[in-house]
Amino acid sequence: MLSDSRFIRACRREPTDATPVWFMRQAGRYMPEYRAVREKYSMLDALRTPEIAHQITMQPINAFHLDAAIIFADILTPLIGMGIRLDFVKGEGPQIENPLRTTRDIDLLGTPPADETMPYTMDAIRLAVAELTPRNIPLIGFAGAPFTLASYAVEGGGSKNYEATKALMYTEPAAWRRLMEKLATVVGDYLVKQAEAGAAALQVFDSWVGALSPRDYAKFVAPYTKTVIEAAQKTGVPVIYFSTGTAGLLDQIAALGSDVVGIDWRVALNKAWAQIGDNRAIQGNLDPVLLLGSWREVRQQADQIIAQAAGRPGHIFNLGHGILPGTPVEMVQRLADYVHEKTARTETVSA
Ligand code: CP3
Repeated sequence: MLSDSRFIRACRREPTDATPVWFMRQAGRYMPEYRAVREKYSMLDALRTPEIAHQITMQPINAFHLDAAIIFADILTPLIGMGIRLDFVKGEGPQIENPLRTTRDIDLLGTPPADETMPYTMDAIRLAVAELTPRNIPLIGFAGAPFTLASYAVEGGGSKNYEATKALMYTEPAAWRRLMEKLATVVGDYLVKQAEAGAAALQVFDSWVGALSPRDYAKFVAPYTKTVIEAAQKTGVPVIYFSTGTAGLLDQIAALGSDVVGIDWRVALNKAWAQIGDNRAIQGNLDPVLLLGSWREVRQQADQIIAQAAGRPGHIFNLGHGILPGTPVEMVQRLADYVHEKTARTETVSA
């Protein structure tokens, strides 16, 4: 019963026999198995071939003791169906050939249903769920939040200051709203379809929203993010809202109503939890760069996070952002096992 798994129980703030652990970007370049698959398939081909996406999803599950899998996909694939030409360039990350430049570009964006534009991801979810459910491991589906997706669509790739994105927001507020509405529609539908295909939880990645002031977040972004979270929650599966650099937005983030709030390492977990409220679960928050250093420091900082969670139900151990490509595999394994051992509770937990 997946609802009785450690990870889903923690999402619902129910007691668990140990703190659940998974890692953002747990499938990726730091794993030799992943690099071997990517020698044969481009990023887009790997994403679009359900058997390959399924295989990559399972790699970290078969290598480590993790409490959840996350489907191998990317937050940017929904943009393709909307009419944006996207590629992943080796060593440079995502690149968009036709970034949004004018209000007309925004008006021309489509909002087709996700099962038409990304059937491959729902197929990959079905394959992964068939293998994971008998092992009682839940699968996390995910999507990008409207702001983070808009930042790629407008900038054409990664960005430091989000100048074009903010310029659009400030100078063409009506066009910005149309863009955010379209993204919220597409992403909300995509999340619902992932849950229907078997995803047991849904994570909304708003990786870059910490670039905004509290006022801009409230005015230009939060309403659309809330629409997405509410659409996803209608499926009945728990929803995680993840962002970075948002210690100053936690009150607004709490008000979005996600079941779980994902935080990065720039804020102490106990302080963040006090702001979010005890009626919410929390996910995080070890600095992924630590895994490139010494085990001693990783252990001490993991101890601190566990101490700050203080045995309260509803903590999901994770990093504060994705695993970096240079991370030693042994460090990932050791950390997952350590958190389980350190948090093992002797009382039996009834379902
Ligand atoms: O977590 C997982 O294991 C599931 C897979 C996953 C990927 N991307 C695969 C991927 C997830 C959850 C994502 C989310 C994602 N994608 C985010 C949000 C989370 C975050 O890290 O902030 C963002 C911003 C993207 C966009 C994206 N995709 C970028 C900026 C890049 C290039 C930088 C990088 O990390 O390589 C990608 C490529 C990408 N997506 C890779 C993977 C495994 C690397 C591709 C490769 O070179 O093999």
